Amino acid sequence: MAARLIELPQPRGPLSEQLFEALAGPVGGRLATPATIDSADPIADEDLQLALYVAYELHYTAIAGVMEGWEWSPALISFRAALERPFEEAVAALVPPAEAAELELVGAALQRIVAEDPGPPLSRYLETQGTREQMLEHVVHRSAYQLKEADPHSWAIPRLSPGPKAAMLEVQFDEYGGGSSERMHSVLFANTMEALGLDGTYGRYIDRWPGVTLAAVNLVTGLGLHRRRRGALVGHLAAFEMTSSIPNRRYGNALRRLGFGPEATHFYDEHVEADAVHENIAAWDLAGGLAAEEPEVAADILFGARALLQVEARWASHLMDAWEEGETSLRAPVVPVPA
Ligand SMILES: [Fe+2]
Ligand SMILES: [Fe+2]
Repeated sequence: MAARLIELPQPRGPLSEQLFEALAGPVGGRLATPATIDSADPIADEDLQLALYVAYELHYTAIAGVMEGWEWSPALISFRAALERPFEEAVAALVPPAEAAELELVGAALQRIVAEDPGPPLSRYLETQGTREQMLEHVVHRSAYQLKEADPHSWAIPRLSPGPKAAMLEVQFDEYGGGSSERMHSVLFANTMEALGLDGTYGRYIDRWPGVTLAAVNLVTGLGLHRRRRGALVGHLAAFEMTSSIPNRRYGNALRRLGFGPEATHFYDEHVEADAVHENIAAWDLAGGLAAEEPEVAADILFGARALLQVEARWASHLMDAWEEGETSLRAPVVPVPA
């Protein structure tokens, strides 16, 4: 598999227009930081989320026609910070503050938070009645994260002390294939896409992802890139692992019901087993371990978990609402290449 390389997507408004124009030129040139960003709904804001996504992509991938020096250009970082602010505030507004009692035993609090969250009906819907087109759309949305699965959480590694670091590495070692690139979860996901007749190339569907899909990835990248948010990043990973096993079983079942074989379902089947183990390591050894060593970030661990559930719920209702209207949940439908 070649090194990552994406194309700049089509802009969706003044922020992304300004950013993409600047990125096509010399590093640091012609990129002014917006004084204020007026967004009624930052989480679903197409322009804001796309601009933020591409600003973050500089850390993950080469972008055709964009000089690599942009990654740490002060103009870029300042522009990016202006986009992060309203997004962070919008997410914070969805998350209730942690209660003092929860901070005593963070592993147990995480289990309760996840257990009390009914979860979006999305996986159950796809398992029992989703159409082939809807399942393909779901995969295209998910490719925004899954083709770089585990990468955003890995930003935490150098920032953790030995106990939680060892726990995180135990999870990440599996995510990265346990020493075998063919078993890497991002590679398994690309295989799933190919088996469904989709294109598993990194960033291929960026123009099709709506703002709320980009927001789910921007959330974890933003937590990852700020050391001060290491608690929230760990909480995000813990909740991610704790809410993975059952939905992934359902997505695998959905594909089987729709007539797809093991090459399409392997990614999902792998997660049923792996995440049943990961969820305990992530909740107790990683999140609990971090809270014990750095009690000052305990509240942020729970914030990260709740933020994940809230943003995922927002994303899932976008899909369900579009499908109820008989519309595509993407910005344009996908037409898969016949295998
Ligand atoms: Fe995974
Ligand atoms: Fe996992």
